[in-house]
Amino acid sequence: MTEAVLLVGGKGTRLRPLTVETPKPMLATAGVPFLHHVLARARDAGIDHVVLATSYRPEVFQRGIGDGRDLGLRVDYVTETEPLGTGGGIRNVLDLLQSGPDDPVVILNGDVLSGHDLRAQLDAHRSAGADVSLHLTVVEDPRAFGCVPTDESGRVTAFLEKTPEPVTDRVNAGCYIFNRRVIDAIPAGRKVSVERETFPGLLRDGALVVGHVEQAYWLDLGTPAAFVRGSCDLVLGRLHSPALPGPTGEWLVLPTARVATDAVLCGGTTVGAGAVVGAGATVEGSVLLDGAVVGEGAALRDSVVGRGAQIGDRTVLVGAVIGDRARVGADNELLAGARVWTDARLPPKALRFSSDEASA
Ligand code: GDD
Ligand code: MG
Repeated sequence: MTEAVLLVGGKGTRLRPLTVETPKPMLATAGVPFLHHVLARARDAGIDHVVLATSYRPEVFQRGIGDGRDLGLRVDYVTETEPLGTGGGIRNVLDLLQSGPDDPVVILNGDVLSGHDLRAQLDAHRSAGADVSLHLTVVEDPRAFGCVPTDESGRVTAFLEKTPEPVTDRVNAGCYIFNRRVIDAIPAGRKVSVERETFPGLLRDGALVVGHVEQAYWLDLGTPAAFVRGSCDLVLGRLHSPALPGPTGEWLVLPTARVATDAVLCGGTTVGAGAVVGAGATVEGSVLLDGAVVGEGAALRDSVVGRGAQIGDRTVLVGAVIGDRARVGADNELLAGARVWTDARLPPKALRFSSDEASA
């Protein structure tokens, strides 16, 4: 048995307004809640029990994942009344873990899409006799991540969270293996950052923390551009997901969506359940969430249209984020970075979405 803890308590502020009602790890990504992809991959890597460390909107996780049976897993939930941070969140699930003190426990950031080989990391962790191991990946701009230098043996020498002066382009990819004993030692009942407190503390105390470098597909879905990229990459098949609800290709259209015969869908676009794409519209590399409506002749690229949102005829969206139930009139042009929030006068329960229903 191998257990995993999923950190999913963040508020997803960079993805607002999409995360006002739906926490980031539950946003429909290539047609299913993002976590379904993460959980299905974890299951295929031999994980059988997962504990979700929730804080923001915990009910959305329970509704969309339930007891995990549909995904071939056993899923439990713990909710922080006040967010305890990443380290505090890990410590807070301790009572639900069944692993022995020297067993490895996998810990995953809940917003990372990764093609790395978790089994290989577990093997490397065991054969190194490590206390903790971290998946490391190389990124172009390490300043937005945890910068993790290692020595020639692979031993981690420092952990520098979001430093303006990174010493290496190898960063923390958000997948750790902790021997359970290490979780026991995290202080309980208060906020702890695993990145800013636990890792530096372990290094100071001489724990064996090793880096597991693997350059597979890797993306943190923290921003709208990354969210759209991740969804499209899954549809295009750039990263295999056992949870993809259809074949890979230029587009994924969920049952009950309606797409006009002369509309063009490409670049890994998803059209959610009950969504509508009007005649002559073009939707390229975008995500239309359930019930979204795209008017005739509209042209969308690299954009997200929220649940039940409406885009007027001939309107152009490039790199735009349209909140749930928002309305954009005809002949508008919204370019990179534009965000449209929901019209507060519309009651939130005016529309029901299939993703609101329990899946388990
Ligand atoms: N339970 C719980 N409680 N979870 C939390 C909390 C909390 O208080 N705060 C954040 N999380 C969860 C988020 O939901 C997310 O899944 C994960 O912890 C990481 O938080 P982010 O807010 O996405 O952090 P980040 O992307 O800026 O940085 C982290 O991830 C990078 C890799 O994607 C750090 O771990 C970096 O070091 C790392 O490079
Ligand atoms: Mg993140």
